[in-house]
Amino acid sequence: METQHWIFSDLQFGQAGSDGGTLARAVDDILGEGIKLDSAWLLGDIAYGPNPEIMHRAAEEIPAQMERLGVAVYYVMGNHEMDHLRGEGRVLFPLHAQARANPRWHAAAVDEFYFTENFGGTLVVFMGDHAAKDGSWLVSHGGPSDAGVYPHTAGAYAALRKKIIEHGGPVVTASHYALDGGGQRPSELLDALLPLPANVMLHVHGHAHIGDTIWNKDNPWRRNNPIRDSAVRQINISAMEEERSPGSHSAVLTLGPQGPERLRIRCSGEKRWVEDYAFPLTAD
Ligand SMILES: [Fe+2]
Repeated sequence: METQHWIFSDLQFGQAGSDGGTLARAVDDILGEGIKLDSAWLLGDIAYGPNPEIMHRAAEEIPAQMERLGVAVYYVMGNHEMDHLRGEGRVLFPLHAQARANPRWHAAAVDEFYFTENFGGTLVVFMGDHAAKDGSWLVSHGGPSDAGVYPHTAGAYAALRKKIIEHGGPVVTASHYALDGGGQRPSELLDALLPLPANVMLHVHGHAHIGDTIWNKDNPWRRNNPIRDSAVRQINISAMEEERSPGSHSAVLTLGPQGPERLRIRCSGEKRWVEDYAFPLTAD
């Protein structure tokens, strides 16, 4: 069985040029391509800054746009979901709250570091930023705010690695952040998964907006990057926003019985496919 998944991150709703209109245009574009989707994956940074009004607007407009696709939505939080808690000290994750309440959406509990889904034999591990329900700790930019109270031990990450191995079949990992070895703003917490088990066939991530020469200085235009101590590659699928990144980018991943078969990068700003990767993925 073959399945197709639309993946995007870093909409950064609230930044100039990155409001709900950007997502609406991307949904128009994907629907216009006539792709039969099985799910959509949101890899974090849906809004920008600690402003509650922007976060609430994002939590209304993003589900409305995703509803047009008519598929299940898988959501992980990124560092900007933590902006309000980091800046104002109050727990406020309105899109995450709707994701947990909406039967069509899937997300980890707010204080859990991963959740999984099986798409036709491929186990996908979704890993996002997370925080204590009372806001007493949070994870952002690949590390906990207070390592002394962070509840997920090295053993918990080792248990996830074991779960991946025990799946036996193909695995894809998806996160807001890159893995180490590619130079594009990797998460130190995810080092616990390295070296990746041999059945992991792909890592996809956002956060390192392509073409952003300020925050993604290391090879800002290189999407296909190596992973430390691993033969497989990671692909930077960001960003949906159009300010820090020229264009508005997302990915369509095709999974088959043996795992990933094809990953295409779409620029909805220019309405064209800008990359087309076949598997097994090698260096460009
Ligand atoms: Fe980010």
